[in-house]
Amino acid sequence: MGLNKKPYKGCRDFFPADMRVREFLFSQMRKTAELFAFEPYDGPLLEEVELYKAKSGEELINDQIYSFTDRGKREVAIRPEMTPTVARMVANVHKQESKPIRWYSIPNLMRYEKPQRGRVREHWQFNVDIFGAPDNLGEIEIFSLITTFLRSFGATKEMFSILVNDRYLVDGVFQDLLDLDQDSAYKLYKVIDKAKKVTPEKLDIMISEIITDQSKKEIFSNYLSLKSFNDALNFITQYNLSERCKVFKEFVEKINQLEIKDYIKYDPTIVRGLDYYTGIVFEIFDNHPDNNRAIAGGGAYANLLQIFNESPLQGVGFGLGDVTLRDFLETHKLLPDLTKPKHDLFLVFTDPKNELATLNLGGKLRDLGVKVETNLGTMKFNKIFKTAENKGHRLVGILEEKDGELNLQIKDLPKNEKSFYKLNQIQEIESKIKKG
Ligand code: HAM
Repeated sequence: MGLNKKPYKGCRDFFPADMRVREFLFSQMRKTAELFAFEPYDGPLLEEVELYKAKSGEELINDQIYSFTDRGKREVAIRPEMTPTVARMVANVHKQESKPIRWYSIPNLMRYEKPQRGRVREHWQFNVDIFGAPDNLGEIEIFSLITTFLRSFGATKEMFSILVNDRYLVDGVFQDLLDLDQDSAYKLYKVIDKAKKVTPEKLDIMISEIITDQSKKEIFSNYLSLKSFNDALNFITQYNLSERCKVFKEFVEKINQLEIKDYIKYDPTIVRGLDYYTGIVFEIFDNHPDNNRAIAGGGAYANLLQIFNESPLQGVGFGLGDVTLRDFLETHKLLPDLTKPKHDLFLVFTDPKNELATLNLGGKLRDLGVKVETNLGTMKFNKIFKTAENKGHRLVGILEEKDGELNLQIKDLPKNEKSFYKLNQIQEIESKIKKG
């Protein structure tokens, strides 16, 4: 019996057509990050499991991590996310780096998940993080970058929303208003994180298992019904949470005066599943009814560097998956047609005696930076144009003899035009190809 030709469950082979889409997405990521002066970094595929046990949360460790013991008896894991790695790297250099540190990467990550729409076991994730920015400004910079990024594909404010919450507000509700102990608060965090994925009845049952007192249930239901930043601010005043939510209140004031405010909405159910977040947390949601899911998620994390015994350094950032991004772009018809490759010139000959001259001409043109595919072998005339089109060439060059001299005929396929050159007219040939 032959071996399985499929890749491992939940992982993808990237054939050239898939690779073109991936490279297009990555190049937009790089362009946007660099537009905001972020620097690229990368880390290893394997990390010690301890790095994730510290603050990534139970779900990741118990259900999703790929971990094993290496030959040196170390417990290691394939990176399921990049934030612990970037925090570890920043912990090495933050004292000498000028702040804020702006770094980005596009790592592949592995999580043991049930493959479904928007969820695979290996995905690539655009990670953008700022360390050491003053209160709120890092968050605002990150939101500007996200909107610039999605707009670079043609997305508009009707297509996506940045749903925002404040973990200090949630902590205030849990501790000051609901009097929950640490264990119950942790459980309620997980319940809210799932709020959008379960029915209201199921949600009610899950909440009742944690909050038994009726008046406290009402407070919590008031909290869950907050619909806007204004509602949230009124709630904060009504329940005396202003001291805890000082930074969030300033954030709302600033956002209200910025152009990106149209993209940003308050949502009490956004709390994020990862444990290290401290202040602002957010998810970018696709507003299309056919793809109503998170494209990206992130938040602020004030204490991650402390796991390395370093002084606290405020971090804020997000991760955006390649699969969810592609789903978003396809749903809104924002992905350009990349079904065919794009090359400049398919250089062919129909008479075997022109083989070497064709190879030489190909070489000369490549020296000038022209992308040339020389056909490896004599071609039948009736096959040339169909083959060139399938291979994504815009121009076809045919070497042929005319009046005892070798000539190059260039056919522009989209324009259906022909032009003729002598082989020593290399500059004319170059400019014909380059000017498109
Ligand atoms: P996360 O919410 O776990 O956050 O993942 C961020 C994004 O990565 C998700 O919104 C989704 O687009 C994509 N993603 C996650 N898991 C999968 C999967 N199994 N299949 C496909 N796509 C997936 C984090 O990972 C944080 N470390 C992000 C961050 C960076 N926070 C601060 N800086």
